[in-house]
Amino acid sequence: MKNIKIGLFGFGCVGQGLYETLNSSKNFAGEISRICIKNPNKARKLPAKLFTDKKKDILFDESIDVIVELIDDADAALDIVTTALKNNKSVVTANKKMVAENLEYLVELQEQTGKAVLYEGAVCGSIPIIRTLEEYFGHEPLNQIKGIFNGSTNYILTKIFDENLNYKKALTQAQELGFAETDPTLDVKGFDAKYKLSILLTHAFGIHVPPTQIVNLGIDDLKVADLEYAREKGLKIKLIAQAQRIEDKVYAFVTPQFIKPDNNLHSINNEFNAVTLNGEFCDDQLFIGKGAGSLPTGAAVLSDISALSYEYKYEYKKHYNLGKLPFSNESLLKVYVSFDSPKEIDLSDFESIQHKYFSFDHSYVIGNICINKLLNKKWLSNSNNNIILCDNGTEGTLGNLCVDSLNAEIDELKKGQELLQKISV
Ligand code: HSE
Repeated sequence: MKNIKIGLFGFGCVGQGLYETLNSSKNFAGEISRICIKNPNKARKLPAKLFTDKKKDILFDESIDVIVELIDDADAALDIVTTALKNNKSVVTANKKMVAENLEYLVELQEQTGKAVLYEGAVCGSIPIIRTLEEYFGHEPLNQIKGIFNGSTNYILTKIFDENLNYKKALTQAQELGFAETDPTLDVKGFDAKYKLSILLTHAFGIHVPPTQIVNLGIDDLKVADLEYAREKGLKIKLIAQAQRIEDKVYAFVTPQFIKPDNNLHSINNEFNAVTLNGEFCDDQLFIGKGAGSLPTGAAVLSDISALSYEYKYEYKKHYNLGKLPFSNESLLKVYVSFDSPKEIDLSDFESIQHKYFSFDHSYVIGNICINKLLNKKWLSNSNNNIILCDNGTEGTLGNLCVDSLNAEIDELKKGQELLQKISV
């Protein structure tokens, strides 16, 4: 086997994980020749001659075979990948934002240059889901792909549910353990999971859907009352990414969801990720693995570098061979919405409301809402409101309530609240 010379960009959590896995691997012939870093003055454990702060030292070094891009900045990452491919070098990257936002372009660029971009480490850490979709499921139509795609939020929710840790402490731990993004709002608001879902839409259904078209709701507005509600009913709350093919349209979204104990995702804890898929012939499948952390993600990157050594490339079989399935946000979801003040949610966005509960410390409605109503809605970005998708059958139904009568009830509640405020002044 050829001794692969690697030019590495970035030496953070994943870069160091790659270094460690590469040096401990018994069956990989390769070495990191040079590492490009942003801050040349930072103390490093490795010899100084290995590092440079000049991109060209790596991108135009003829002796380097493969470029590995593990930096945070998506725009700079795209620049590196583009230059590398045009300069006849294949690339491994773990930058999900960059891949998701530019996948159509990256597919074209690979076609033009004949070089490969591999990005297994960008989606669900150590779970080899992209290669599985490409190779094993390249010819089987899939009906659904769904799971826990973000390790940090799963870690936070596990700590909150199982150890009663508060949200802030759990997030700090996820950051200290190297699971969270440099900007953790990408994790807790569901952006990171959405980038991963957008990438999998290409490999599972053959369609490129820009992340801006996919709804992402996060876990940062969860209330104690929401947790109590879930606990009382024996449910857990998980941040779930989900894509479904129904009558040859594809629907996809990222939301917190109530998960029943008999659902496989109920027992997936800490930084573990899980991907469930349903195929037309294979029926249900479940993949579990560590979705974040230095070594699991470093190992996924190493596996891609190793794949390049035998000229592996994604063939995008579904993208090229299937008729283009339309993506749609025109489908109803059953959601629980809790709020402080009923006036802060827009009930006219609901198709129907099936359940309601109003009290001074916990008020919510459960109803059906169209996915496209969840895109960029102002009342949803209000941190007093929280939305959780209902797993099918977690709620009984009261029959559809008329929105007008609900508004009248809300007015009554509001009057009661005002009266209470006056009395307490
Ligand atoms: N911040 C990401 C996560 C890292 O928590 O899943 C792995 O992609």
